[in-house]
Amino acid sequence: MPLDNEHLLHENSIDPPKGFFERHPGTPNIPGGWEEYLKLYNQSIENPSKFFGEKAKEFLSWATPFTDARYPPGNGFQNGDSAAWFLNGELNASYNCVDRHALKNPDKPAIIYEADEPNQGRTVTYGELLKDVCRIAQVLTDLGVKKGDTVAVYLPMVPEAITTLLAIVRIGAIHSVVFAGFSAGSLRDRILDADSRIVITSDESLRGGKIIETKKIVDEALKSCPDVRNVLVFKRTGTPHLPWVEGRDLWWHEEIIKHVPYSPPVNVRSEDTSFLLYTSGSTGKPKGIQHSTAGYLLGALLTTKYVFDVQGDDILFTAGDVGWITGHSYVVYGPLLNGATTVVFEGTPAYPDYSRYWDIVDKHKVTQFYVAPTALRLLKRAGSKYVQNHDLSSIRVLGSVGEPIAAEVWEWYNEYVGRGKAHICDTYWQTETGSHIIAPIAGVSKTKPGSASFPFFGIDPVILDATTGEELKGNNVEGVLAIRNPWPSMARTVWKDYNRFLDTYLRPYEGYYFTGDGAARDQEGFYWVLGRVDDVVNVSGHRLSTAEIESALIEHNLVGESAVVGFPDELTGSAVAAFVSLKKDVDNPAEVKKELILTVRKEIGPFAAPKLIILVSDLPKTRSGKIMRRILRKVLAGEEDSLGDISTLSNPSIVEEIISTVKRDA
Ligand code: WT7
Repeated sequence: MPLDNEHLLHENSIDPPKGFFERHPGTPNIPGGWEEYLKLYNQSIENPSKFFGEKAKEFLSWATPFTDARYPPGNGFQNGDSAAWFLNGELNASYNCVDRHALKNPDKPAIIYEADEPNQGRTVTYGELLKDVCRIAQVLTDLGVKKGDTVAVYLPMVPEAITTLLAIVRIGAIHSVVFAGFSAGSLRDRILDADSRIVITSDESLRGGKIIETKKIVDEALKSCPDVRNVLVFKRTGTPHLPWVEGRDLWWHEEIIKHVPYSPPVNVRSEDTSFLLYTSGSTGKPKGIQHSTAGYLLGALLTTKYVFDVQGDDILFTAGDVGWITGHSYVVYGPLLNGATTVVFEGTPAYPDYSRYWDIVDKHKVTQFYVAPTALRLLKRAGSKYVQNHDLSSIRVLGSVGEPIAAEVWEWYNEYVGRGKAHICDTYWQTETGSHIIAPIAGVSKTKPGSASFPFFGIDPVILDATTGEELKGNNVEGVLAIRNPWPSMARTVWKDYNRFLDTYLRPYEGYYFTGDGAARDQEGFYWVLGRVDDVVNVSGHRLSTAEIESALIEHNLVGESAVVGFPDELTGSAVAAFVSLKKDVDNPAEVKKELILTVRKEIGPFAAPKLIILVSDLPKTRSGKIMRRILRKVLAGEEDSLGDISTLSNPSIVEEIISTVKRDA
């Protein structure tokens, strides 16, 4: 739907701060403000081919120009399928991120690396990055990696992670990054599913002063990955006790020096896959979300440019890991496509103390800072003294991502970090969307604490009635969030499973992309994302599937059945609770609970560990055997008065037991 001012009254909203313009080095990327946004937005919705075709020509460098910006032409999801973009065009992602900037300005900083230990970082220029990318690209070619092959990446936040991703796409291969907090088992599943034959990792990694034995985890995973030929190992700590498989394992520093500093990029077609990134859905098996090349690049480029108003000399600090989509789009691709400088931070917000982020911002004069609310809640709780004695006047934009940001956290961010002079951009998007889909445009959009505000160009959001699928028109409506139009950076499929892609995203509500989130549009047209309506829990901005945690718990030999639900947590947003019935009585329930937590840490990763384990004799089930998680959620929330009719359960009496166990244990 086109937007117009009549539907957007902005009575209770906040104007872009004047300080944003005072701190601005020149002209914002949307100089005409809100009126210009409306005009561009409406053009992008009415004629996406024209709008994105022009942007793709203007901002991306093409080896072969595309002929058709969108196929099929026109609008919407036609015949239940998505669209393809920039047909017959050829380009290379690493050329767009590195070469074109290095050719013009080789000495410009591309990466500012802040190591876990303060003062151990360094800067990598575009010229240096180009050399490293070319050399690693040749290493990979020597190892037999070809266009279309996948390469698994299990690396900490070091500049070499960026080099790695760009080297992979330089030769037309596909990166599949696995967050280096995932267990050996999760890594193994992803290597096998993607059929990766090469793994790139580090000897160890360092976070918050703690050592993580990255290579050992890879070794463990590879015990059941017979097809992996080589492991390329970046030396991070230089530990003397590194297990080594001769012939398979290779040192990064030994391989890289064998190669010349330039090798030409391998051009790919627009729709060729650039990467896979696994994410959790409603069922146990993680999905390999598959992204295109040109469409993805354009989305990352445009959102960075407009939402964050990034200018060529800006320094972006996205405090997210390259193992998640935030790192892909806003540590790596978005900043580099715009020729800006990106901060790669290896550590945590609390090490050596709670002022680490602000030390970095102050030291490097960061212009855009981007983080998840969970970190802000931690820092707010630690106390404002950690933020006060820093010069943060370089910041124009403060981004938030991954979960709703509560109004009081928004206010704290605005007051203590932005000091009223930065535009707060609460960005709503997903691994599947590739880049921001609902977000304020810095210097342009009005904001309301807790609302992601308005759609980005090309995004036509709708609120649907969850049951009937009927579109709820006008303002003041609440339902599930869907999108009416394909957009360039949306995922193309689930790796090797287009049917699952359709089932998850395009079939639930015919003619729309279904986000899986509930949302409201308020009386002034602002969008409010209310959280997942499926079995996905968002813990500290990490997306977890309850089904995946349940299948991890089952691995423990005492577990009969389990039901995992999310519950509100002050620090992490949501936390995980597992209701577990054991196969037999045990003498030491406390011990068993510890073992169950360890099982999840081992099967998935430490970040998925349940905060609560509740041992029960049975789970509430319908007569057909379906576990009623809704009842468990209500009991945890202390809402046992509103459980509804439980008499139809096959075992109604279990509910009393669960209520008293929760009262005792939780
Ligand atoms: C889910 C996607 C997007 C990168 C990080 C997470 C939730 C994301 C917001 C926001 C409210 C948000 C949604 C979404 N979410 N951003 N600004 N406000 N909720 O990516 O792991 O794919 O998770 O995160 O529930 O569906 P992801």
